[in-house]
Amino acid sequence: MVWAISHHDALQQLLNDPRVGKNAQLWTTFREGRLPEGWPLLNFVTVPGMTTADGDDHRRLRGLVSQAFTPRRIAELQPRIEALTARLLDGVALLEGEFDLREHFAYPLPMQVIGELLGLALAEQDELHELSDTLVSSSATPAAAVAAQRGLFGLLGSVVAAKRAEPGDDLTTDLIAAREESDRLSEEELVGTLLLMLVAGHETTLNLITNAVRALLAHPDQLRQVLDGTYSWSAVVEETLRYDSPVGQFPLRYASEDIAVGNVLIRRGEALLASYGAAGRDSGHFPDADRFDLGRKPAKHLSLGHGPHFCLGAGLARLEAETALRELFTRFPDLTLADGPAPEPIGSFISNSVRTLRVRTS
Ligand code: HEM
Repeated sequence: MVWAISHHDALQQLLNDPRVGKNAQLWTTFREGRLPEGWPLLNFVTVPGMTTADGDDHRRLRGLVSQAFTPRRIAELQPRIEALTARLLDGVALLEGEFDLREHFAYPLPMQVIGELLGLALAEQDELHELSDTLVSSSATPAAAVAAQRGLFGLLGSVVAAKRAEPGDDLTTDLIAAREESDRLSEEELVGTLLLMLVAGHETTLNLITNAVRALLAHPDQLRQVLDGTYSWSAVVEETLRYDSPVGQFPLRYASEDIAVGNVLIRRGEALLASYGAAGRDSGHFPDADRFDLGRKPAKHLSLGHGPHFCLGAGLARLEAETALRELFTRFPDLTLADGPAPEPIGSFISNSVRTLRVRTS
């Protein structure tokens, strides 16, 4: 049994409830071996790392990377993010009028930022992205999902081997040192943590930038008010997070005891799905929830999580998205959606965005 938690207040309560854990051993279906072979979400449930750990284990695993995401370290990344953004916009300017903003701008920016943080070569990034797309896709066959998972572990395993041979100034090298000097994480946790940082570090921000541009171009009156300074880029980012959450749902959590939520009883051993996309549109919490409204106060949402698993990269995601949007619309204030059919959803159980976003610069 899996409960999708789609109401904002119930989700907020459960994300912070100590009776709700992330270790799959709490889930009766998993413990009894009743999940089918090749189940596409298996990796999310079993990957060794902070997203599947509770208590001390969670603190240990999160602590190993959290130093790289302090407000000071994030602020230090700003000039690099601005330089990467400018370079990508130079490339876009050469595309002569119409292009896919998702492919040429929203994807490479967060991928290159997290790639540099992890010390990945540019050549490795596209392959990792393709595999990670399959991992979050819901249309992948079980065989393709398993192959993508193996491919990702294989590639990240070779990244670790290369960094062992030749250490760099990056998070992967720091994690290897934490493993070797003080045995603070296992080899599986090391690769699992890299996988998490890679997928969480780019699939999400890619969706946020895409969804924000799409919402702004569909609401030109509000875009004008951003450009004239009435609303901030930060308001655009927060309202997009609520209105079109980059993470539609995140699997899974488990009840370690019976838990009453309103009139519903979640039983011990049952699973919970955090339905962030639905919670952002909960009209019981957000008046006129289906309206994109930059003047909304307060626009507090749960789309970056809540409680002990609150997004570790929230500051980085916000900085990347604000920089990307500000620079994009400063360079191309007349950007419009290209003519043609409405873009298709990406078809993922987890990720929420569109496959392509064709725009025109003139
Ligand atoms: C728009 C961008 C982003 C969104 C919407 C987002 C959303 C989320 C959400 C909803 C969670 C909680 C998942 C759950 O347990 O239910 C989460 C956790 C996490 N995020 Fe993000 N994220 C974003 C960007 C990033 C970036 C850029 C990074 C890293 C560079 C990152 C790293 C993580 C990590 C490591 C966790 C797990 C934290 C833990 O389990 O303690 N995220 N994120």
